[in-house]
Amino acid sequence: MIRTRVIATAAKAPEQVITNEDLSKIVDTSDEWISQRTGIKERHISAGENTSALVIDVAKQLLEKTEVPGESIDLIVVASVTPDYGTPSLACMVQKEIGAKNAVAFDVVAACSGFMFALSTADKYIKSGMFENAIVIGGETLSKIVDWTDRATCVLFGDGAGGAYVEKSQEAGVVHENLGSAGELYDILTEGYTNCSNAFNDIPAEIDSKWYVNMNGREVFKFATKNVVRSMKRVMEEAQVDRDEIKYIVPHQANVRIVEVVSKKLGIPMEKFYMNMERYGNTSSASIPMALNELNERGLLERGDKIMLSGFGGGMTWGTMLIEW
Ligand code: ACO
Repeated sequence: MIRTRVIATAAKAPEQVITNEDLSKIVDTSDEWISQRTGIKERHISAGENTSALVIDVAKQLLEKTEVPGESIDLIVVASVTPDYGTPSLACMVQKEIGAKNAVAFDVVAACSGFMFALSTADKYIKSGMFENAIVIGGETLSKIVDWTDRATCVLFGDGAGGAYVEKSQEAGVVHENLGSAGELYDILTEGYTNCSNAFNDIPAEIDSKWYVNMNGREVFKFATKNVVRSMKRVMEEAQVDRDEIKYIVPHQANVRIVEVVSKKLGIPMEKFYMNMERYGNTSSASIPMALNELNERGLLERGDKIMLSGFGGGMTWGTMLIEW
């Protein structure tokens, strides 16, 4: 059976670290409130580098690690809600910088579930036999779309990128997945709204508050705990894998309290959930691949290990993938 196997992972975050203490100097908040409510202590924030700089860095690292030349890459899929441009896609910018002149390159948008949707897309192209390999990246500079006067949102997010080089394998790889969307809830988490101002109407062109991240935190919390649990259960049932067989779960790094609820509802101990949100905050589509890369770089994964990646995000969307390492 053809499978899509993760061969290498990489991540990149901006150098600048902003602590909860730093944030308390610009909005009315405290380390205690942020830590207790979210588990986040600090985040990396762009000192000027845009999303393309981060995702290109990840792509270059992936080629270095695998020694695959750029021209041998078949597919580049980047997930982001904070690209540099409306067009070109980040994936095309990556293509240029790594000399992947034979690749098909495009972006996908599924907010914090973006990496799951991107990896699922690559998986289908590889399983169909159309492509042999792919670079899949999630990358964001959320700092540019956060309202830095809104304490309810600005404390949650960070910037970064993470990704994987995947290729066709007969041995291990993606075993099973569950993706889903709940468009009826689209307005509980939005960003980047642009109005339809033009030369022939009288709508003012300036950015309004809906351009920034807007979130009904409690509704997102409810959505996440319900759907992540359901999605992970479904993947384990359909793949006939017992929860004890799963070595690690890499959840979307939004909020430690969400992970605690998921852990309790599934009866899977917290030690199995790999988390680094304490140091990076919520980096949306980058959060799962950045955490996966850390898990990998720390040497915690061995061949044959079963791991589960599971995210939720704007749209609303969710996605879970069971991978045999
Ligand atoms: N510092 C201090 N006080 C704050 C802050 C802050 N940074 N932010 C909000 N508050 C205040 C509020 O003003 C409110 O005060 P009030 O009671 O006087 O009105 C109080 O804290 C409680 O606010 P809530 O929004 O009700 O706080 P809640 O306990 O729900 O926690 C949080 C907010 C952390 C966002 C929570 O709703 C949550 O975890 N939601 C899940 C959503 C999430 O994690 N989103 C991440 C991004 S989305 C994604 O990744 C898909």
